[in-house]
Amino acid sequence: MAKPCLAYFSVAFLLLVVFTLSSAQTPDSSIYDSFLSCLTQRTNSSTQLSNIVFAQTNPSFPTVLQNYIRNARFNTSQTRKPLLIVTPLRESHVQGAVICAKSVKVQLKIRSGGHDYEGISYISDEPFIILDLFNLRAITVDIKNEVAVVQAGATLGEVYYRIWEKSKVHGFPAGVCPTVGVGGHFSGGGYGNMMRKYGLSVDNVIDAEIVDVEGNVLDRKSMGEDLFWAIRGGGGGSFGVILSFTIKLVPVPETVTVFRVEKTLETNVTATDLVVQWQQVAPNTDDRLFLRLLLQPVSSKVVKGTKTVRASVVALFLGGADEVVSILEKEFPLLGLKKENCTEVSWIDSVLWWNDDESLKNGDKPETLLDRNLNSAGFLKRKSDYVVKAISRDGLEWIFKRMIELGKTGFVFNPYGGKMGEIASDATPFPHRKGNLFKIQYSVNWDDPSTGAAQNFTNQAKRLYSYMTPFVSSNPRRAFLNYRDLDIGVNNFGENSFQEGQVYGSKYFNQNLKRLVNIKTKVDPENFFRNEQSVPVLMSRA
Ligand SMILES: Cc1cc2nc3c(=O)[nH]c(=O)nc-3n(C[C@H](O)[C@H](O)[C@H](O)COP(=O)(O)OP(=O)(O)OC[C@H]3O[C@@H](n4cnc5c(N)ncnc54)[C@H](O)[C@@H]3O)c2cc1C
Ligand SMILES: *[C@@H]1O[C@H](CO)[C@@H](O)[C@H](O)[C@H]1NC(C)=O
Ligand SMILES: *[C@@H]1O[C@H](CO)[C@@H](O)[C@H](O)[C@H]1NC(C)=O
Ligand SMILES: *[C@@H]1O[C@H](CO)[C@@H](O)[C@H](O)[C@H]1NC(C)=O
Ligand SMILES: *[C@@H]1O[C@H](CO)[C@@H](O)[C@H](O)[C@H]1NC(C)=O
Ligand SMILES: *[C@@H]1O[C@H](CO)[C@@H](O)[C@H](O)[C@H]1NC(C)=O
Repeated sequence: MAKPCLAYFSVAFLLLVVFTLSSAQTPDSSIYDSFLSCLTQRTNSSTQLSNIVFAQTNPSFPTVLQNYIRNARFNTSQTRKPLLIVTPLRESHVQGAVICAKSVKVQLKIRSGGHDYEGISYISDEPFIILDLFNLRAITVDIKNEVAVVQAGATLGEVYYRIWEKSKVHGFPAGVCPTVGVGGHFSGGGYGNMMRKYGLSVDNVIDAEIVDVEGNVLDRKSMGEDLFWAIRGGGGGSFGVILSFTIKLVPVPETVTVFRVEKTLETNVTATDLVVQWQQVAPNTDDRLFLRLLLQPVSSKVVKGTKTVRASVVALFLGGADEVVSILEKEFPLLGLKKENCTEVSWIDSVLWWNDDESLKNGDKPETLLDRNLNSAGFLKRKSDYVVKAISRDGLEWIFKRMIELGKTGFVFNPYGGKMGEIASDATPFPHRKGNLFKIQYSVNWDDPSTGAAQNFTNQAKRLYSYMTPFVSSNPRRAFLNYRDLDIGVNNFGENSFQEGQVYGSKYFNQNLKRLVNIKTKVDPENFFRNEQSVPVLMSRA
């Protein structure tokens, strides 16, 4: 059984205290009735539709809701619950759900894997319906043509597993957490440890199927290149319901290498030395090498009762151990990598290892990747930044002091360069290409369910973010859409909707926002597909 990949830091989560779920709202049975009768008229299938539409009074409602809640912060009695949850079994149910949500005039939230860091696929400030795509998870792999069609409700683990079943020398560049859903991940950009060799997931998407606001099913040809461009990084939830993506598989060697090396501020090569050299090496080294850096405040083993910062380098190399050791002896001597530190594995085993580095030792098999770990979540907050100029030694020392004072929030540095720098910044809505050395993820996890704890830890992440201002991109300060962060701005859909959209939109999309707005305005002028950070329409709706 795999650890749920909540943490990049091998923290075991124990949810000791649980909330009781209150029936917060009075069930609106008239919405249920009108929605169901609309859906019955719209779809022509043998399905008993009451089995796929869950009202709050349905005994299965809490389970269906909680199965794909991946952040326990949004699993409290105060969290607003959807009026209905719709769980389509086929395309026509999705088409019907869009049309019927429009006809009952209720906001539709789309959920695939539920990993949105701010939970916006399953919470809202206004009355809403969840369209939950977990049943639409078919994956068809065609090795001869090196393509696969993956439905939005599939998980990344399922994608990797189905490719591996057919070929040991094909893979796909996407995220390292197997339970992440295809629908949100791909439409938000999608990156993983093969990014420097093959780019983002969306750089390898060649077709898609989407249900538009009229309930039509469109493919690349019928949606046109503008909309097809927009859903490869612009966030699916602004434009329609994505049913599937067609992806181009990439070659992987039969043997790859993984390793993890750790230093603290107290080892003779300090964490600071390591990070100084990492900044020179990681974004510039061989494209086949991905050197993720984790920085985390931890208890000192040298001076009891004090804290230090631990730097861990976690790597994937698309090649053998001898080669990566010889590359890093030259380029990154401070790492001190030895062959004994490396593990040579198949690509699919590297996926298991990256999810949980104890996985292989524990005898986990690729089948573990099919485990959906339903209804399990810790409390977490994430934020993001981009670094375009290496941070100085003094800067790092100062940041580490702040990190120790704050106590819990850590960083994940993901190096760019390689293929990421070769793809034009307007090739997809994802703008963070050439010139970016690395992306920072701010990461804090906790297990105390009180609102006080949530406030403290989210504030801690915010403070670290504010300390980082001089070291990161500016005008606009950039952010990664898949690292959803509502602190950088939200939309209230009033008369300032367009301006509000510029605030977060420019951070996520920079110069690509304009084209996204034009496409949005064309395909969904009434702004039916909206969420806290959706692409705004050109004219305000006021
Ligand atoms: C543990 C963990 C690990 C992660 N690791 C990585 C990583 O390695 N790389 C990376 O890039 N990101 C990573 N992420 C972020 C992740 O990619 C995003 O949260 C992604 O949006 C999740 O997709 P989902 O389908 O699971 O989420 P959901 O919460 O279901 O959806 C996210 C957003 O997309 C919209 N959406 C979902 N499905 C559809 C659809 N079919 N059509 C239209 N809109 C849709 C939702 O409405 C919502 O706005 C990680 C997140 C977590 C929690
Ligand atoms: C949500 O809370 C309920 C208790 O109300 C608990 O049983 C369930 O495990 C929690 N699920 C998640 C994903 O946090
Ligand atoms: C509805 O289903 C029936 C029986 O399967 C079929 O004959 C008919 O063409 C379908 N109608 C539409 C609109 O799909
Ligand atoms: C790497 O290998 C060397 C030599 O076997 C060993 O001393 C060191 O502890 C290893 N480092 C890690 C991080 O495993
Ligand atoms: C650590 O310091 C010792 C003593 O100065 C030295 O012999 C050793 O090579 C150092 N280790 C590394 C990895 O630099
Ligand atoms: C929140 O932080 C304050 C101030 O540091 C502290 O007194 C309080 O105990 C914390 N609350 C929780 C629930 O962690």
